[in-house]
Amino acid sequence: MSSDHHQSQYTGRVLWLTGLSGAGKSTLAGALYQELVSAGVRAELLDGDGVRENLSKGLGFSKADRDTNVRRIGYVAGLLARHGVTVLVSAISPYAQTRREVLSQLPSAYEIFVDAPLETVTERDVKGLYLKALAGEIAHFTGVSDPYEAPTAPDLHLRTDQLSVAECLERLRPLAGLREEVG
Ligand code: PPS
Ligand code: ADP
Repeated sequence: MSSDHHQSQYTGRVLWLTGLSGAGKSTLAGALYQELVSAGVRAELLDGDGVRENLSKGLGFSKADRDTNVRRIGYVAGLLARHGVTVLVSAISPYAQTRREVLSQLPSAYEIFVDAPLETVTERDVKGLYLKALAGEIAHFTGVSDPYEAPTAPDLHLRTDQLSVAECLERLRPLAGLREEVG
C-alpha cells in the first residue's frame, strides 16, 4: 500500500445536529443536504425518523435505547465519512456524555446545538407530540418528562426561535465546507 494515500485527507465532515423535538434539526439538515447535493458534494442525511424506521427499528426511548441509537448513527456516520461523504445527523441525542463519546471517535465532527426553548417547540408542536406529552400520554418525552442535556460548548449554537432558517443556514454553510450561497 502506498504511503501517500492518507485516508484522513479524504475524510468527510460530520455535522451533528442535536436538540429538542421541533427545534429545527430536520428542517436545517434537509435544507443543507439539498445545498450540498446541488453543489456536487457527496452528502448523506441520517435523520432521526429514517434511522428509527430502519437502522434502529424496534428501539424505544429509554436511556439505553437512545444511547444505542446514537452510537449506531455515529458508527454509520464514521463509515460514510471515511469515504469522504459529508454526513448530516439529525437526532435529539439528549445525553451529553454519549454525544461526547461518539463525536470524539469521528475525525472531523461538529456538534451543533439546534436550540429553541420548550415554550417555542410546544407552540410549534410540529407533530402534535407535545400536546400529548404534556397531557401525560407519552412517557419519557424529551424536555417534558425526560432529560435533555444541552451542549455546554457546541461548535455552533443556533437559536431557532431568534434566527430564520436562512440565517441558520448561513452559519451552517462554513462547517459543511460550503462558502457561498447556492442556488
Ligand atoms: S434520540 O433521543 O436521539 O434517540 O431520539 P431520535 O432518534 O432523534 O428520535 C426522536 C423522534 O422520535 C419521536 N418521539 C420521541 N421523541 C422524544 N421523546 C420521546 N419519548 C419520543 N417518542 C417519539 C419524535 O417525533 C422525535 O422526532 P423529532 O424529529 O426530533 O421531532
Ligand atoms: P426537529 O427535526 O428538531 O424535530 P423540525 O425541523 O421537524 O424539528 O421542525 C422545526 C419547525 O420549526 C419547522 O416547522 C420549521 O419550519 C420551524 N422553524 C422556524 N424557524 C426555524 C429555524 N430557524 N430553523 C429551523 N426550523 C425553524
